[in-house]
Amino acid sequence: MMTKHRRGVMMLLCLSPLLSGLGCGSSLRPVLATELLGPVVQAPTPDSFSVIWSSVQAAAHAADETRFALRVLDDEGGVVGAFPAECSDGRCLAEADGLAPGVRYRYEVVSTVDGGEVTAILAAGSARTSPPRGNPFEFLAFGDNGPGRESQHALARVMARFSPDLIVHTGDLIFADGALEGYPDRFYEPYAPLLARAAFYMTLGNHDYARDERAPVLDTLILPANGPPDQPAERNYWFDYGDVRFVCIDSNAPSAQVAGSVVPWLEEVLAEAGARWKIVWFHRPIYTHAFHLPAGALRDAVAPVFDRYGVHLVLCGHNHLYERSYPIRAGKPVPEGEGTVYITTGASGQHRYKARPFRPAYMAMQVDSQFSFTVVDVGPDSLCLRQIGERGEVLDEYRLVHAAGP
Ligand SMILES: [Fe+2]
Repeated sequence: MMTKHRRGVMMLLCLSPLLSGLGCGSSLRPVLATELLGPVVQAPTPDSFSVIWSSVQAAAHAADETRFALRVLDDEGGVVGAFPAECSDGRCLAEADGLAPGVRYRYEVVSTVDGGEVTAILAAGSARTSPPRGNPFEFLAFGDNGPGRESQHALARVMARFSPDLIVHTGDLIFADGALEGYPDRFYEPYAPLLARAAFYMTLGNHDYARDERAPVLDTLILPANGPPDQPAERNYWFDYGDVRFVCIDSNAPSAQVAGSVVPWLEEVLAEAGARWKIVWFHRPIYTHAFHLPAGALRDAVAPVFDRYGVHLVLCGHNHLYERSYPIRAGKPVPEGEGTVYITTGASGQHRYKARPFRPAYMAMQVDSQFSFTVVDVGPDSLCLRQIGERGEVLDEYRLVHAAGP
């Protein structure tokens, strides 16, 4: 009997415009690179990274001698290691370990005969292990990319000009209901060049599980399962990369759950962070001035924690425009270095929302006339934020300097 995930992969493959040559009946055949969804880089640490992909052949050949592996290469093409993939119901995962920190490695997804002879290179990409503290890196942030319109695809082509190590998605990945059928043309295809090189993390938006309580994205990605023990896994989590502690919160949870369960966990995660920078992200913005009003109960629960533990930057989506606040502390704008900067970056493809009139005192910048995404360059002493528009122009630039100085 076909399991839930296998059905999902089959549906993805049948619907994908990339896979038009493949029948969706019972005659599963051949190993063709185009039958593969992904690869997607996941979970980089100082000495490892993982790659996931989905494919019909992984499902079809589960019982024969074909095995899949991740082959990691150095700059000159020498093989650093070959790491067997675990495949289940058409999704494969391989983790490369024993690597050096802060190095960008090339990799190939290969099929083999029973783990030995390589029979085909199915896909290739690169990934960077987490760099030692003090080393710079770049990440992208965006959300609300829409139902596969040209606006989404055009912006994705601009994104591909950058070279991030990570992508932090602020939610609403698959409009309108988070359905698995949307993944080929709304996730894998537009972001393919980025997914093959930048580790993808996301927070759940309200659209991500409108149809299914267990959002398909949680079955698609590998997200850290280190959230509050009494909450569903992978909805709240944290990870360190370079000198940043990233913390993801599920802002769809009822406010009583956030206050009673997520906040104590958040305090612990921020208190024990050894990283120089603290960045938190979630879907519903708490300082915003557009179509959706600020999430007031969520703000009451988490903003005091951000103040207490010196969170530098908060990234949200949900409102389909770009917004940047002045540094805020205790609900009020404060001088540079004394508060948290709040960004709304929900303009990456879905219909845009207009900013409301009479900009509040805490709001430094709003752009509602273009689709856009955020590029953050992390350095030892500053975060350099750029909001990039549809034609690659810089719509806003802001340097957040660490209060502790160099
Ligand atoms: Fe939303």
